[in-house]
Amino acid sequence: MKGLILSGGKGTRLRPITYTSAKQLVPVANRPVLFRVIDTICEAGITEIGIVIGDTGNEIRRAVGDGSRWGVQITYIPQEQPLGLAHAVKISQPFLGDERFVMFLGDNCIEGGIAGLIEQFEDSDYHAQIVLKQVSDPRQFGVAELDPQGQITRLVEKPREPQSDLALVGVYMFDHHIWQAVAAIRPSFRGELEITDAIQWLIDHELRVFAYVHQGWWIDTGKKDDLLEANRLVLEDLEQQLVGYVDRDSHITGRVVIEAGAEVINSTVRGPAIIGEHTRIINSYIGPFTSIYHHCTVENSEIEHSIILEHSIVRDLPHRLEESLVGRNVEIARSALKPRAYRLMLGDNSTVGVL
Ligand code: TTP
Repeated sequence: MKGLILSGGKGTRLRPITYTSAKQLVPVANRPVLFRVIDTICEAGITEIGIVIGDTGNEIRRAVGDGSRWGVQITYIPQEQPLGLAHAVKISQPFLGDERFVMFLGDNCIEGGIAGLIEQFEDSDYHAQIVLKQVSDPRQFGVAELDPQGQITRLVEKPREPQSDLALVGVYMFDHHIWQAVAAIRPSFRGELEITDAIQWLIDHELRVFAYVHQGWWIDTGKKDDLLEANRLVLEDLEQQLVGYVDRDSHITGRVVIEAGAEVINSTVRGPAIIGEHTRIINSYIGPFTSIYHHCTVENSEIEHSIILEHSIVRDLPHRLEESLVGRNVEIARSALKPRAYRLMLGDNSTVGVL
């Protein structure tokens, strides 16, 4: 079996972060979401993985490399434009051939891996198997209706009156029949080849499309608050590891990771929280559910329930920073200049909440 990861797309919901970089490389608990997806596919014993890339392809190639870090072989599949998930599948046919494959969205985080399920599909006679999750508001999702045997009978995109609460979570398994489906369907009203239409085509042609209902959590990290929620959930399972330096005046409580080369000086870190490599925390408080990536500085400030990306500086803040996503090379500092005023340089589509 082969693996396919979709890592192109527009990423409009995560602007301005996605103006300059790939949303799939945003770290959750200091590990990029895409790396977590690769981990899951590797755990199932798959050694050949294709990654569909778009405008941010070069950054993804640089970060992931040839796969040797995971002991797998990675092939990059450039998609000229983000024309839909089924389009991404279509252009991957030369890589996938007639083998069965598992497809993951590169920006989704799923609890506990699903290696067992992938192995099960490999030996089954199903033509497709789709991972579903019970959700509280199905109207926001692609929803599947099942018969009592667990076979999918119908898919509906964002139904107004949902007949089921089972949403598609972004993990799909197919055999070669998918090639006929993606060739037959036409673009939707939003101009994309929809994967739900391709799966519906399989159903309409009496192919065996089965459901697998995932019991753990699943998060599409395409928006800020969902990304923070994924970060919270992954940090819940963190194990304490203090590799970097913590001085005698600092207090570390709960499950905290201080990575190599990090320094915590006269500060409190209350877990679950993770401090990245070569990051310095000075006279500060880092509260639960916070991930600070590598080469950052936090000084005379308080941060909680946030993700700070690499090479950023947070200094002398008079109030606590909370529920925030801070990009790369960002500087947030209190200014001593008079008059007292906000002095900002923000990218397009930034969001700032002030007191
Ligand atoms: P989405 O999050 O559905 O789409 P998007 O990335 O364009 O984001 P937004 O809605 O915020 O504009 O895509 C899910 C995953 O699939 C994501 O990792 C990007 C990837 N993708 C492709 O590789 N090719 C495509 O044509 C599309 C639409 C998405």
